[in-house]
Parts: sequence; structure tokens; C-alpha cells
Amino acid sequence: MSTQTQAPVRRDPRSADARDVAVRLEDVSRVFRRGGEVKALDGVSLSVPRGSFLAVMGRSGSGKSTLLQIAAGLDVPTSGSVWIGDTEVSSLRETPRTRFRRDRVGFVFQGYNLLPSLTVEENITLPLRLAGTAVDRAWVGTLVEQTGLADLLHRLPGELSGGQQQRVAITRALGPRPDVVFADEPTGALDLATGQRVLALLGELVAEHGQTVVMVTHDPGAAAFAHDTVVMADGRIREVLLSPDAESLAAVLGEQSVLDAQGGPDAGAQGVPDGEGVLDAQGVLGGQR
Ligand SMILES: Nc1ncnc2c1ncn2[C@@H]1O[C@H](COP(=O)(O)OP(=O)(O)O)[C@@H](O)[C@H]1O
Ligand SMILES: [Mg+2]
Repeated sequence: MSTQTQAPVRRDPRSADARDVAVRLEDVSRVFRRGGEVKALDGVSLSVPRGSFLAVMGRSGSGKSTLLQIAAGLDVPTSGSVWIGDTEVSSLRETPRTRFRRDRVGFVFQGYNLLPSLTVEENITLPLRLAGTAVDRAWVGTLVEQTGLADLLHRLPGELSGGQQQRVAITRALGPRPDVVFADEPTGALDLATGQRVLALLGELVAEHGQTVVMVTHDPGAAAFAHDTVVMADGRIREVLLSPDAESLAAVLGEQSVLDAQGGPDAGAQGVPDGEGVLDAQGVLGGQR
């Protein structure tokens, strides 16, 4: 808690304008009670600036998926609060929360979650049709050009490669122009080259359309496509890296596994910058570029 960070402060949290923040978690905990009690998130605070690309890393079981699902309004915290833009999603009841999510949030799953009997085009426009929103043909056209799906619109998902299916899932998530796109290990099921293409695409969407993206990944190479990275351990943010390169990411993750082996949650006392302290000091993660 007391360890100070040397990470550069790119934004002063006191001057942070709420309109510049796409997603904010404040002291969020999530306890699962099934058999025993598991604290999947333990007092997480995080602000994601609009137009930024944040990677969430950490070993299996560290709370990454729980963080993403709660940030996206798919799940609600046991305590603490979650804002998307200026809506406190954690205080919404299930039906308005579902509606809010449908209109404002995109989610990309590792397993794509495409409907097998619908064509690519029908899958992409499904959320719009479900929301009763007129399909913005020009925008969807721009997206399918950018995601390289223009020639595949009439195929069924079963006729596509894994990388193509993931690109359909990303395009579908972007169709309603969501405030934020959340992606849980979007390259986890892809080979390296295909994964790199999918990541480059996410990066382009951020750079060219000002999209905000929060992505869970195991892979330091994948995180290098993002602007900033938070590293989770035991349901807490252990480390915040602003604009890290692949080498420093790999170094931190290697260090983390050594420290985990030595002493788990108390490892911060041995000199690793404490994520909570970093966030207290900074309030808001790095800014747009
Ligand atoms: N629905 C659930 N019920 C019970 N325990 C859960 C549930 N979801 C996650 N957990 C537990 O919470 C912890 C964090 O899980 P998760 O967020 O899925 O981690 P990660 O995505 O980093 O692998 C793990 O101990 C996991 O077993
Ligand atoms: Mg997970």
C-alpha cells in the first residue's frame, strides 16, 4: 500500500473530467459463495479514459474475467460501484442494465458466440435488430471493410476460420457504436499470426474511431498492442504499466510469478509497486494519444 510508483503520471486525477472517462470502478469487490467463499475482486479501483486501449493481464484465477464482466455490467459487484460514462450501472436493476448494455457496451468472447444458423451479415446486425435500432449501413459497411469481411457477408459461421469468426464477433460488438468494447482473451483460440491481425484491428479501431477497448489477455505480446496494462493478482490490481513495451511487460510478469511463489499478496512489501497505491496516486490511467 505504501510503495510509491515511478510510473509517469500522464494525467492529474484532480483535473480529470468525468466526460473523458469511459469506465470507472470504485472500490469494487466481488465475492462468490459457492461451496466456500471466493473473493474474486478485492477493492479494485480503475478509470479507463475514452479512446484508450487497456490490457488486463494476470495469471489464471486472478480475477480478470470477473473484472471485465463487472465493468461491462454483465455482473454486479458485491460492494463498490461501476460507471459507464455517467451511468452507474452497478445500481441498475437487471432489465435496465441489460438494456443499457445492449445499447452502450460491446462484448467479445473468446468463443466468439456467433449464432450458427445466421449469416455473417445477420450476426453482425443482430444486436441492432434486437435493440430495434435502424441499421447504419454506412457504418456497418465501414466496419466490414476494415475487418476484412466484405466478401464473407453471406457465409455461415461454420464456413469461416477461427480468425474470421473472431473478426465477425468484433464487428458485431462495434455495430451499435458502443461506448466501450470489452474483449475477454479475444486471441486465446487463434494461432499467433491470426491473433496478431485481430489485435492490430482492435488497435486501428481505437486509433481511427476513438473506440475505447478493454481487453483481457494472457499474452504480453498481445498487451503490447494496448496503450496501458493493469496486472491482476488475487483479485487486486498489482501493477499499472503505462505504455509498456513487450520487454518490460514480460519482465514484470516474470517478476510477478517469482513474487507470487515467494509470498502471494504480501509480495508488494518486497518492492513491487503496489497497484492500489499507483491508482490512489493517479486516479486515472494514462491518457489518449
Ligand atoms: N461464477 C463463479 N462462481 C464461483 N467462483 C467463481 C465464479 N467466477 C469466478 N470464480 C472464481 O473467482 C476467481 C477469479 O476468477 P476469474 O475472474 O475467472 O479469473 P481469471 O479470468 O483471471 O482466470 C477464481 O478463483 C474463480 O474460481
Ligand atoms: Mg478468465
